[in-house]
Amino acid sequence: MAKGRSKSVEAIDMLKQDHDKVERAFKEFEKMERADMEACRRLIMAVCEELKAHTTLEEEIFYPAVREVIEDEDIMNEASVEHETAKMLIEQLENMQEDDPNFHATFTVLGEYVRHHVKEEEGEMFPAAKKSALDFDSLAERMRERRRELIGETEKAHA
Ligand SMILES: [Fe+2]
Ligand SMILES: [Fe+2]
Repeated sequence: MAKGRSKSVEAIDMLKQDHDKVERAFKEFEKMERADMEACRRLIMAVCEELKAHTTLEEEIFYPAVREVIEDEDIMNEASVEHETAKMLIEQLENMQEDDPNFHATFTVLGEYVRHHVKEEEGEMFPAAKKSALDFDSLAERMRERRRELIGETEKAHA
């Protein structure tokens, strides 16, 4: 396999792996016993942390790089707006009591939102980026490095 090709998949695969991970968590939540508030809260907070790291990685590194190489500004602008809305819902969840009647509903709405957003990224943005002359080697490297920092910050915050 050509070196460029294997790396070109890596930057995007990293993001897809995050998508799959949160998608699985949202599915798991659907089957959870709502009365088990503590377990529900734990899953919800873990997904929020995951999504915050993921959106930061995209906003700081992936999106700006893609913006430079693809023609379609609409895709990028819509994705950014969707991130803002997702972050608002995450913030609401973080500030809600777990017995708030809207706590679980807000998380379910966040799930629907994220699912829609992921579909557009994987269906439109990523294929367009793949066709571009993006330097995927350095992109993957910067993303790996930033991810390590972000995960470190989360762990410190919860220590
Ligand atoms: Fe994403
Ligand atoms: Fe995104």
